[in-house]
Amino acid sequence: MTAQKPDDALKTRLEKHGQAHALQWFDNLNADESRRLRQQLEQLDFDRLDRFRTLLKTPPTNMSFEDVKPAPVRRLPLTDRQRKFESRVTELGRDTLAADRTAALTVAGGQGTRLGYDHPKGMYPISPLRNKSLFGLFAEQILAARRRYGCRMPWLVMTSHTNDEETREFFGAQGFFGLGEETVHFFVQGTNPILDAEGRLLRAERDELLVGPDGHGGVFAALSRSGLLDRLRQGGWDLISYFQVDNPLVTVADPRFLGHHVNMNADFSCKVVPKREPSEGLGLAVLKTGRPTVIEYIDVPEKVAGERLPSGKLRYQFGSIAIHLMDVPFAERVANLDSSLPWHIAEKTYRIVDDAGRKVESPPGGCRKFEQFVFEALPHAQECAFVEVRREAEFAPVKNAEGDDSPATARRLMQRLWFEWLQKAGADVEMPKDFSEPLIEISPLYAADEEELAQKTEADWQPSFPLLLEP
Ligand code: UD1
Repeated sequence: MTAQKPDDALKTRLEKHGQAHALQWFDNLNADESRRLRQQLEQLDFDRLDRFRTLLKTPPTNMSFEDVKPAPVRRLPLTDRQRKFESRVTELGRDTLAADRTAALTVAGGQGTRLGYDHPKGMYPISPLRNKSLFGLFAEQILAARRRYGCRMPWLVMTSHTNDEETREFFGAQGFFGLGEETVHFFVQGTNPILDAEGRLLRAERDELLVGPDGHGGVFAALSRSGLLDRLRQGGWDLISYFQVDNPLVTVADPRFLGHHVNMNADFSCKVVPKREPSEGLGLAVLKTGRPTVIEYIDVPEKVAGERLPSGKLRYQFGSIAIHLMDVPFAERVANLDSSLPWHIAEKTYRIVDDAGRKVESPPGGCRKFEQFVFEALPHAQECAFVEVRREAEFAPVKNAEGDDSPATARRLMQRLWFEWLQKAGADVEMPKDFSEPLIEISPLYAADEEELAQKTEADWQPSFPLLLEP
């Protein structure tokens, strides 16, 4: 077989778009290899590639904060009157769940580099006693919601080119966690070429371009491309409960959040918590030129992040924990926008194949990855409910192998919350000081929240530990 070199049309395109170096990659390839590489090059979106190259040449501008104000937030209730309002809103959320309008969506396409786990992050065994995976815990919540509200709640799982196959195999091996295979829908997010600092294409293998997932903001295009937005419409689901794969404390079917979203006629909503300190890595909930916006923490100058009110509280107090509700028509609108969401550039290090065909490590931070962020769809929303939630009850991110935001901190937070539930249910237990030995686990199928646990618990109950509550 003769090697397939780029034809004249592709050659001209590569030269025109500053990628002539890719032509020399073909010199030492056999026929199969050169076909593979040629196909990838032919499928490239050269307009987007040009946009990336222009972005690389454009010096970053500091965002203006003159037109930025703290966002109005639906706060946690403090007074009886507020509590009454919150219970009315929560009731509305329960009715919405019972009306079977909601689908769950997990973004699980990230590469999980910081965790150092060599599989899709959702497979990570996180629960303290049963070692259930993140996916397994979300599945139990979805099952519990289906039973409680009598709804069908499909589950949409966004994967990426690197973890799609393994994710599907895992779900298969787990029997789809009893959810019913036909109710779980995988869809693969898009990829972008990863470039060097000068905007040149790179190779991961001799016959393979280096590409990376396009960020969780790729969710809109991927949903639309996969046909899932149409399926949601046809099935009568017009609301999406969106969450990240890294948070085992997320409440997938949260009536209070849904209630606020529906009550405000919002089309994209965000859960927020007060930031612990100015530098905490949470996107800031703000109004920019009057529009609800989340500004990623790296774009917030220290001075702005640290600004305080006379009370001593941070002026920009609320950070997004990346849990959203979005309307299906809103997702359709964003997927069909003429101009795409902004592209962000991350500086990364990868194993690459150099122009001479050798496998080498790129210069540290020498590769440029282009990503979109889901929350940047917010300015396209008509209305947004920023809803304050208790951090300890809803946010236990698993990002790093050790230290902050690690499996150890997440397990501690889960167990603390379950101990609180026991105490509120009247059980005679003290909060342990230390969770180095696993002590407690409550399956969402036993009790999905503190009220459900209270219904199943006798006052003065003296449980013994380790305590596993499952159906
Ligand atoms: C993210 C948010 C931050 C938020 C914090 C809460 C960004 C840029 N920032 O930070 O505002 O306060 O979480 O924990 O997202 N993912 C994909 N495809 C991708 C990239 C990511 O599906 O191409 C998924 C990951 O699988 C994960 C989630 O998105 O579920 C978050 O990704 P990650 O890159 O870890 O975000 P953070 O920087 O931790």
